[in-house]
Amino acid sequence: MMLKDKVAVIYGAGGAIGGAVAHAFAREGAKLFLTGRHLAPVEAVAKGVVAPGGSAEAAEIDALDEQAVDEHLQSVTDRAGRVDISFNAIGIPNPKVRALLVELDVEQFSLPITTYARSNFLTARLAARRMVANRSGVIMTVTSTPSRTGTPLVGGGGPAMAAVEALTRDLSAELAPQGVRVVGLRPQGMPETGRIEESFGLYAKASGMTWEQFQELLASRTHTRRLSTLAEMANVAVFMASDQASGMTGTVVNLSMGSLDD
Ligand SMILES: NC(=O)c1ccc[n+]([C@@H]2O[C@H](COP(=O)([O-])OP(=O)(O)OC[C@H]3O[C@@H](n4cnc5c(N)ncnc54)[C@H](OP(=O)(O)O)[C@@H]3O)[C@@H](O)[C@H]2O)c1
Repeated sequence: MMLKDKVAVIYGAGGAIGGAVAHAFAREGAKLFLTGRHLAPVEAVAKGVVAPGGSAEAAEIDALDEQAVDEHLQSVTDRAGRVDISFNAIGIPNPKVRALLVELDVEQFSLPITTYARSNFLTARLAARRMVANRSGVIMTVTSTPSRTGTPLVGGGGPAMAAVEALTRDLSAELAPQGVRVVGLRPQGMPETGRIEESFGLYAKASGMTWEQFQELLASRTHTRRLSTLAEMANVAVFMASDQASGMTGTVVNLSMGSLDD
């Protein structure tokens, strides 16, 4: 088991990525503290983890609320003794109508930038304060390919993802000397997730294609000629969270299947 007895806190655990990572971490022996803005989807993931014998507790925590995140981490530390892994998988809904940057309202542009940067800063900072005391821990972020490649109609999403990747590197530069690694995952769209159909479905429609045709187009840009799965992403998350990845920090794993050059 790659994460035996590791104490992991996941933010946005009721979502597609948070849920898949929770199941993969549990399979590898981690003790999970799952959180999300609404309790019901997080509880559903926790039940799915506990049923086959895993360890998970669910809590309703807004990952933009400093006090709530801090109090939750304190209760985890008080009960489990430490926090080994902090995984921020929050995602805010994509706008229903896609606008060009020149037409975008400044509030709409700023929302993803302030939300993702604030939440990742808060959860990382509050976990790091506890991890540094043990000189051990892993902080993990999730971004997407617009962080690195010009993408139309994503509004503030590209700058938001670029900011989180810069934060990942900067946190690592400060924390790695104290034993805490900071790493990111940059998946490409995974068709099983609702978010990606909702998001890319709009592009498909605008291009006069069906969702299936659009997926084929995206897949044709990868080296494998297919898009990756949640399970593949979660397996990489397990490795990056584990001590096997002790040589990796200040970096973001490119999970684009070759469609985005390093
Ligand atoms: N899905 C993909 O294929 C893909 C690919 C590349 C990158 N990503 C990125 O990965 C992240 C997660 O994607 P996903 O597909 O897992 O999205 P998702 O299924 O929509 O899940 C996002 C989760 O975050 C929760 N959340 C939102 N704001 C929160 C907050 N302030 N505090 C706590 N929880 C909060 C949501 O809870 P509520 O619903 O209760 O608000 C939801 O459970 C996003 O940043 C996305 O851009 C996704």
